[in-house]
Amino acid sequence: MSLLDGWLPPTRAHYGLILKLWQFAYPAVRPRPLWVIGWYGMGKTSTPSRLNLPGRAAWMTMEAPGFLTLLYVMRTLPAQHGIDDLPWQNRVLAGLFVIHYTYRALLFPLLQPSMAPIHVLVWAMALGFQLLNATCLGAWLAAYGPVTADAWAAQSPLPQFALGLAVFYAGLSANFFHDEELREIRRRRQRREQQQGCSSKDNNKAGRGATTNYYEIPQAGLFRYMLFPHYLCEWVEWAGFLMAAGWSCAPAWAFLTNEVCSMLPRAVRGKAWYVERFGREKVGRKWAVIPGVW
Ligand SMILES: NC(=O)c1ccc[n+]([C@@H]2O[C@H](COP(=O)([O-])OP(=O)(O)OC[C@H]3O[C@@H](n4cnc5c(N)ncnc54)[C@H](OP(=O)(O)O)[C@@H]3O)[C@@H](O)[C@H]2O)c1
Repeated sequence: MSLLDGWLPPTRAHYGLILKLWQFAYPAVRPRPLWVIGWYGMGKTSTPSRLNLPGRAAWMTMEAPGFLTLLYVMRTLPAQHGIDDLPWQNRVLAGLFVIHYTYRALLFPLLQPSMAPIHVLVWAMALGFQLLNATCLGAWLAAYGPVTADAWAAQSPLPQFALGLAVFYAGLSANFFHDEELREIRRRRQRREQQQGCSSKDNNKAGRGATTNYYEIPQAGLFRYMLFPHYLCEWVEWAGFLMAAGWSCAPAWAFLTNEVCSMLPRAVRGKAWYVERFGREKVGRKWAVIPGVW
């Protein structure tokens, strides 16, 4: 069964077309609003608008279609190509993608003490990111990449695959650690508000309201050196995935390139936001996201 005949899952010709779009058109278009007009309607740079969506719901609905699409393509495409058993490497890589997005799409918004609204345009761009990425990676893993043990031996020998996995998990853990540091800022604030001794009903109100829009300069871990280490760690994670998938895996390259293209301007603008909000002296010599470069 196809959800969209010839496109989802994609035929080989359509896979080639979608991949070209993902490799070349998306990186040119997605970062434009941030570099050119300096606007990005989410998080710190969210502005009041009638087109804003509630942060948590917007985050879940823009991120979750990615891993659901990948699972759907993995389930349907192999049979269309007469493949009845995929090598373990294809399943492990699909598993890594699902592990990451179970955290990012489902747990992350639930764990955040509060999230700023997300503009519907940012939501739509992120949804496009997820659908293009999952279709390309899913199709490569399900049929159009290596699908035999011999093909894998040439694509990514076992030591390379294992090292890629280790890098992926190191990036994932470090990304979670730094996300957690940001959450802790608002939890601490919540606790402080509660200790200030209101009635328990007022406490709840104060606790919820107090965290909204509350920001500090984070200091723990790699935050000592940069303001967006969680972004850098996520790039390390997907570089590990690319290493495991093999250096010729075009969808994994496109994923990493698009991540950097969309997150780098956010980090650079984010640093300007910190300087404006807290002053140059308090931000000190912290880099935005790549020590020594940005
Ligand atoms: N943005 C992207 O394009 C993108 C793409 C792929 C993956 N990711 C990953 O998704 C995760 C979140 O990304 P993001 O762009 O939303 O990161 P972010 O702007 O740093 O915000 C992360 C969360 O922490 C809060 N927060 C941020 N800075 C804070 C501070 N100084 N003090 C207190 N709370 C603070 C934010 O609250 P508010 O919402 O209220 O600002 C938000 O809930 C990261 O791990 C990133 O690697 C992001």
